[in-house]
Amino acid sequence: MIEYLGKVLGIVIQVKRLTKIFHDKKRGKITAVDDLSFDCRKGEIFGLLGLNGAGKTTTLRVMATMMAPTTGEVIVNGYHVIKEAHRVRQSIGFLSSETGLYDRFTPRETVHFFGKINGLSEQEIKNRMAQIFQVLGITSFQDVRVDKLSTGMKQKLSIARAIIHDPPILIFDEPTVGLDVITAKVVMESIREFRDQGKCIIFSTHQMHEAEKLCDKIAIIHLGKLLSIGTFRDLKERFAVGDLEEIFFKLIEIEKN
Ligand SMILES: Nc1ncnc2c1ncn2[C@@H]1O[C@H](COP(=O)(O)OP(=O)(O)OP(=O)(O)O)[C@@H](O)[C@H]1O
Ligand SMILES: [Mg+2]
Repeated sequence: MIEYLGKVLGIVIQVKRLTKIFHDKKRGKITAVDDLSFDCRKGEIFGLLGLNGAGKTTTLRVMATMMAPTTGEVIVNGYHVIKEAHRVRQSIGFLSSETGLYDRFTPRETVHFFGKINGLSEQEIKNRMAQIFQVLGITSFQDVRVDKLSTGMKQKLSIARAIIHDPPILIFDEPTVGLDVITAKVVMESIREFRDQGKCIIFSTHQMHEAEKLCDKIAIIHLGKLLSIGTFRDLKERFAVGDLEEIFFKLIEIEKN
């Protein structure tokens, strides 16, 4: 029944009571994610908003099968992140904060390599690569070696690499960090375009204006806990204030008391 309802509503990510605890020699027990639950849908840009250390990267890493939950469950595209990790990986494009690109490859070689790993044919790679390079503005440096690219160029290439297999779900950890305003705009516009193609995009940010402009739904997390969730309009009504920054401060104040 729940599965059926999920399909009808277009739910493609379910985070159910997710908790992740780290045991650190110096800091002791760290509850990075604390009983977190939310759903994301097809054709939706979902923003995870929180301060440094809020638990955003940890949540995204669990979704992307890079890390196991301590307790709770995450279902991505109908697949369980632990029991069906391989299927989950085929369903997602994951952009992590570490780019991990090969210095000696050009963008064209990098994306071709990832297309092959993901089982695409030469023709599919050729077509998808041309389309993605155009959307992201990579074509002009497609034959320049990675070690000669700027931070922004590398970030665009990391996004291209993450989406070459045309996955229905994109998990992006701080996609615009370190980018200039124009490059950040290109990335944000591409995210909108992916949404309009019917994909689900979940991304993390601590930039309020970015979340305001881009997200269909925003989840505010603090110290691993979900403080509030909704559209920007829902949140504004709920807290009777005009912008996300004010909402955020209000929530943190409530949490302190
Ligand atoms: N592998 C790990 N071992 C121990 N502690 C960790 C590990 N990974 C994350 N943490 C801790 O978990 C908490 C949440 O970290 P996380 O990276 O998820 O935050 P974040 O919201 O992505 O922050 P930022 O905005 O700075 O990227 C922090 O206290 C962090 O130090
Ligand atoms: Mg992070």
